[in-house]
Amino acid sequence: MPTCLACSKPVIPWISFGKMPIANGFLTPDQVADEPRYELEVGRCQACTLVQLTQLVEREKMFHAHYAFFSSTSTRMAAHFEQFASGAKTKYLADAADPFVVELGSNDGIMLRHFAQAGIRHLGIEPSANVAQAARDRGVRTTVEFFETELARRIVTSDGRADLIYGANVMCHLPYLHSVADGIRELLHPRGVLIFEDPYLGDIVEKTSYDQIYDEHASYFSLASVSYIFGQHGLEVIDVEALATHGGSMRYTLAHRGARPVTAAVQELRAREEQLRLHEHATFEQLRERIYRSRTELHALLTRLRAEGKRVVGYGATSKSTTVTNFCGLTPDLVEFISDTTPVKQGKLSPGAHIPVRPYADFASRYPDYALLFAWNHAEEILAKESAFIAAGGRFIVYVPTVRVMEP
Ligand code: SAH
Ligand code: TMP
Ligand code: ZN
Repeated sequence: MPTCLACSKPVIPWISFGKMPIANGFLTPDQVADEPRYELEVGRCQACTLVQLTQLVEREKMFHAHYAFFSSTSTRMAAHFEQFASGAKTKYLADAADPFVVELGSNDGIMLRHFAQAGIRHLGIEPSANVAQAARDRGVRTTVEFFETELARRIVTSDGRADLIYGANVMCHLPYLHSVADGIRELLHPRGVLIFEDPYLGDIVEKTSYDQIYDEHASYFSLASVSYIFGQHGLEVIDVEALATHGGSMRYTLAHRGARPVTAAVQELRAREEQLRLHEHATFEQLRERIYRSRTELHALLTRLRAEGKRVVGYGATSKSTTVTNFCGLTPDLVEFISDTTPVKQGKLSPGAHIPVRPYADFASRYPDYALLFAWNHAEEILAKESAFIAAGGRFIVYVPTVRVMEP
């Protein structure tokens, strides 16, 4: 029986996706024969409620000098982080004499550049060297390392305590939660705040967005599990905010226990989680049935379109799409290619399913009949710029919350 990342008690297996490739492991044809695969299984801890992977891929196999995800490929996300930075400056840094901001998983500097430009002391912690270099090229001070207690201590010695520690879509990547929480406790100034945001378990349940499940996402957080984990290290959730990003995320703000008042939103979310029955295994058994049904329906739809001679192209070679293509058995005869704007993904094959990834121009120069929206989390941004595709008779297929062809 696997043991819980948060409390070391046994974890009850919930759903298995079978052997999966590395979600961001885009590959060349000569690498196909050696493509590694790992069991992807999710379990629930009945003691502390944390939903988590039961087997983990070594972090160096996922985060390295050829990491494929560059945050700045989404203009909406760039706007989201700009808004965060300007809000945080007034809300949390106004009183600090010489503020210091630390970001975990700072990627290409999409957020920290706003502090760099304002001349505010900052440090990005980013183990993937290629995206870290992109951040440095923008003037963002970045260290190429994995965050843990030992690094936190070194930063305290070199730079002092942080007034703001931030992480977007990274806390759920860190399975050694106690080392992280302990490092944050040491690094955080007595009056400082830790703010992090990740895909929210409640949204996964409500939207059947099972494609959030892949090797990089070790934990699927809720307020209950976050409070439990960080509470063991003297940190308290003082505010929560639901976000539309990445298909439904939660932003948690924490401080040293007793240092700051707790907002009403925290109690409201606690009540909502009760209503959603996030603590009950039956909720997840029902979700598992919806996931299986979604797979059957998506495969059937694409098979029917192929029989009708329609062209279907994937839109956005997201890490999430690796779960969908492999779990649903989507082969290159069902999905001709995947269009993606990220240069390092283009010309490669998608992990496991080996669907070719091609530049956006290949989509735009010869529209398919259907675009399978793998980047559904960026739907608003994408629909806004694809009016010509729709006008030409093209249609988007989505599978979250249910499998359907979108009406224009
Ligand atoms: N914050 C960005 C990037 C999210 S992707 C955004 O929201 O768009 C997750 C990032 O976390 C990757 O760039 C990955 O290299 C980094 N990462 C993975 N493990 C980490 C660790 N232990 N410490 C710090 N960063 C880590
Ligand atoms: P994400 O869902 O992990 O943010 O990844 C989004 C992927 O989709 C990334 O590879 C870039 C790609 N993409 C496009 O190809 N076109 C777009 O308009 C957007 C927003 C993303
Ligand atoms: Zn537990």
